[in-house]
Amino acid sequence: MVEELVDGFGRVHRDLRISVTDRCNFRCVYCMPAEGLRWLPRSEILSFEEIHRVARLLVDRFGVESIRLTGGEPTVRAHLAELVSMLATLDVDLALTTNGATLGLLADDLASAGLRRVNISLDSLRPDRFREMTLRDGLHRVLDGIVAAKEAGLSPVKVNVVVMRGVNEDEVLDFAAFGRSEGVEVRFIEFMPLDAEGGWTGESVVSQDEIIERIESAYPIEPLASGSAPASRFRYLDGGGVIGVVASVTRSFCGSCDRIRMTADGKFRNCLFAHEEHDLRGPLRSGADDEALAEIIRSGVREKGPGHSIGKVNFVRPARSMSQIGG
Ligand code: 5AD
Ligand code: SF4
Repeated sequence: MVEELVDGFGRVHRDLRISVTDRCNFRCVYCMPAEGLRWLPRSEILSFEEIHRVARLLVDRFGVESIRLTGGEPTVRAHLAELVSMLATLDVDLALTTNGATLGLLADDLASAGLRRVNISLDSLRPDRFREMTLRDGLHRVLDGIVAAKEAGLSPVKVNVVVMRGVNEDEVLDFAAFGRSEGVEVRFIEFMPLDAEGGWTGESVVSQDEIIERIESAYPIEPLASGSAPASRFRYLDGGGVIGVVASVTRSFCGSCDRIRMTADGKFRNCLFAHEEHDLRGPLRSGADDEALAEIIRSGVREKGPGHSIGKVNFVRPARSMSQIGG
């Protein structure tokens, strides 16, 4: 019998995000502080066996249906394909969010290990700007990674673009054209106050309405019925494919959120913006049985708040930035 992971607002949780490392091979300026982050020492990171144990419990006992591996950058975790093959034995939709730079090398192995699909984060198609934004000279590697992901059959390939005022807002149409020509679903994401330097302001958000307006100026589109997925999806009337917009700020989907998270150091989080975490690593390493772990997860979910209050006076940023929580 599956026990539903219900919170105090009646939301049932079936989507698990697991950060497998806090490390990253990029230094995106909106993600990492200028002086860099101190990486967690190896001993503080969950082993594959520990990750698998928690994931299996969440799937078998609590009916989790999808698992997404995140980071930092998940592909910098050594032997990631091994973890993928362990998780692929569970009956879930197994996906990965990556910056794409290593997919040229890894996509085949990950697909053979049982990975189903990938979301690739890419915020600029201009080599100079890409370098300024990531502090890495790697646009060509990400573009190769997108091709490799498609060739490996990781389908659908989605490309995530965080749209930031005065930074890359002028590339919305270029990304639309890129998605059409490459046959990938581009998803434009509203910029959230999870940047490492705390530089986010309301003005830095480019809203869904504005993004759609820009796209419509070049390509006629119509909305698609979107289920519970956070992205509003649209299709090009000429058959050029589909785009998505994740309006995390202007149309928060907290009311129907079904996500839970585990950080690389084994902390259970009920929300991207949570201030409280529940430690699973300690109990895992001191011999806790499944029931004890299940109770930690239940109480973490029970304590989940209604959602973020970005833009309201009572909003407080979480202490960890996006790269440490894992997107
Ligand atoms: N707001 C919105 N999205 C963000 N991401 C990273 N930081 C932010 C932010 N402040 C995105 C990444 C990636 C995913 C993990 O989260 O670009 O697509
Ligand atoms: Fe790395 Fe992603 Fe952060 Fe960029 S946004 S530094 S790719 S974790």
